[in-house]
Amino acid sequence: MNVAVMGHGTVGRSVVRLLENDPSICVKYILEIPEKCTEEKMVSDPEIIFADAGIETVVDALPGVHPSFELIQRALSCGKNVVTSNKAALANDFRALLDLTSENGPKIWCEATCGGTIPVIKEAASLSGTNEITHCYGIMNGTTNFILDVMKKEGREFTDVLLEAQRLGYAEADPTADICGFDVKNKVILLSSICYHGMVTKDFPVFGIEKISKEILDSLAAEGKTVKLLGISVRKENRYAIGVVPVIFDVSSLEANVPRNFNMFTLGCTNAGDVKLYGQGAGGDPTADAVIRDLKDVQEGSGFGRSYFDCDLVYDPGLLKGEGIIDKEKVSGTLEELSGLACRKNAFFAFLPDFLK
Ligand code: HSE
Repeated sequence: MNVAVMGHGTVGRSVVRLLENDPSICVKYILEIPEKCTEEKMVSDPEIIFADAGIETVVDALPGVHPSFELIQRALSCGKNVVTSNKAALANDFRALLDLTSENGPKIWCEATCGGTIPVIKEAASLSGTNEITHCYGIMNGTTNFILDVMKKEGREFTDVLLEAQRLGYAEADPTADICGFDVKNKVILLSSICYHGMVTKDFPVFGIEKISKEILDSLAAEGKTVKLLGISVRKENRYAIGVVPVIFDVSSLEANVPRNFNMFTLGCTNAGDVKLYGQGAGGDPTADAVIRDLKDVQEGSGFGRSYFDCDLVYDPGLLKGEGIIDKEKVSGTLEELSGLACRKNAFFAFLPDFLK
């Protein structure tokens, strides 16, 4: 199979390098900006890729919504399958992209969008075929988990640890997306939409780790607790609630012990119960491996198509109730109510959803 890889950053470079050892998949083109086209197969005009009938599948390893979203649209319109690691582009409007797929035509694969190497997208789709998934939550960002873990264990400063996360290839090109929760926002949108078979809203409470200090971590530790940045959603029939927020865990919990760039997802299923998935959530080779597994699945003929979203979901923030801490004060209410209060106070906010008590 001949493929084109759009983007030659941390993930794109790893995909190209790992595929050098795979005789069944040949990288024919790499889309790169003109000043970085240093190899024969590098092109800066995507139309060269779309016009080549020998390219059946395009790998999108670009960052950010644009121009990735438009390039995915164009690839699908030209009948090419899309394997993407770009959560921002997909979360922008997954439904619109699925509408460009067809039963016997191109499809979308997106394992590398959530949780780096962890096969959570595939499991969510599989489990949702035999169960109703009633909640999904998880540590979905390697950079922020790395920062919280290293700050806690090594007593190092936030900025210093962030630089290390960038050097290790965990952070986004603009690390604000990691720190302020926007990367988790994209992932929880995608994962929830796949778990619940419908497109969820983009308008819900999102918090990051920017207000978490060493002092806060120490005072939580004194009570046997810690905090992790989580993407969360819950669902009841066709209603759901969703958010991104630091969540308080007992130090003995599995989530509290997720180290470095690792992620952990939980899918709450009616028959299977809670299914947890764990692995490296960021980094070039782990994420590229998820892209390559998707390419193998392209060869098998699976993938997300337009019929996948068969549920009209209704956003109901009342479903996500719990307790929290705003600054040092204990509060209770829905995530949406408490997030309004925390924003007005511009204070540290951590939440404990009732379903996790
Ligand atoms: N910046 C992301 C993270 C990369 O740290 O999790 C993987 O999506």
